[in-house]
Amino acid sequence: MMNVAVIGSGTMGNGIAHVFAQHGFAVALIDINQPALDKALATIGKNLDRQVAKGGLTADDRTATLGRIKTFTSIADGVQGVGLVVEAATEHVDLKLQIFRDLDQHAPQDAILASNTSSISITRIAAVTKRADKVIGMHFMNPVPVMKLVEVIRGYATSDEVTAQVMDISRQLGKTPTEVNDYPGFVANRILMPMINEAIITLFEGVAGVEEIDTVMKLGMAHPMGPLQLADFIGLDVCLAILRVLHDGLGNPKYAPCPLLVNMVMAGRLGVKSGEGFYSWS
Ligand code: CAA
Repeated sequence: MMNVAVIGSGTMGNGIAHVFAQHGFAVALIDINQPALDKALATIGKNLDRQVAKGGLTADDRTATLGRIKTFTSIADGVQGVGLVVEAATEHVDLKLQIFRDLDQHAPQDAILASNTSSISITRIAAVTKRADKVIGMHFMNPVPVMKLVEVIRGYATSDEVTAQVMDISRQLGKTPTEVNDYPGFVANRILMPMINEAIITLFEGVAGVEEIDTVMKLGMAHPMGPLQLADFIGLDVCLAILRVLHDGLGNPKYAPCPLLVNMVMAGRLGVKSGEGFYSWS
């Protein structure tokens, strides 16, 4: 089984490290400082406790899973000997491009470099490396230990062989991989974000209140969460950034972010992470 490195120990990074380690992979979890890594390990421990309490895992599995994760504060050290890197750093283009330049320099020459980006072009990321055939999107969904999908995104130059390998690795994690091509928002967010935006426009135009909109979608369409609650979970800043990628990249006014969303983000009402969004979370 290949060794794996995960860059970034936030919500997505710690979930990705969790599922790889749970399925037997040795994981190097990399972030810029040790307190962030310690916090991630504590979160993984708590999420594993949940799985043990529900009977999905044994206490020994929990110990073994945590034992497979090592933490590093340097990319150069963490990627030694790995076959796959999954980058899950903050969603900023320049940061991701710099990370991929570093990965290209330090990771073994045959290692696959994957990004968990939700909307940045894989082709653009691949272009800063000398191995564009080995750069691919592995888009996990939150909460990673629970959600079955991995959206596998082929960049312009991603090879068939690397795509097949990543599809296979995703299956080894108990996930269902789905192959898509690299266009703005890929598939998941191209469809999800216009729905969330429309829910916000519906609120903005006074058609219904927050709870009414979410109740219609939850009980009427069997969605586990209403779109406004889901937006709070994803982060309103993230929703806005993805809508801008769709709007700029596809050039269609139907993707224009609702002015209410823009205002809420400017006001710092970002959802769960700021304590206030469409709902109060404090
Ligand atoms: N780690 C491990 N297990 C977890 C967990 C975590 N972080 N979070 C929840 N669980 C488990 C629970 O233990 C529970 O397990 P059982 O089914 O075995 O009992 C199960 O997940 C359900 O959890 P809960 O009972 O606590 O709560 P719930 O029934 O309300 O489900 C939810 C929670 C799975 C998050 C559900 O509300 C849901 O599916 N929400 C929508 C999630 C979604 O749409 N995600 C995609 C977001 S978009 C994205 O990620 C990509 C992007 O680019 C923006």
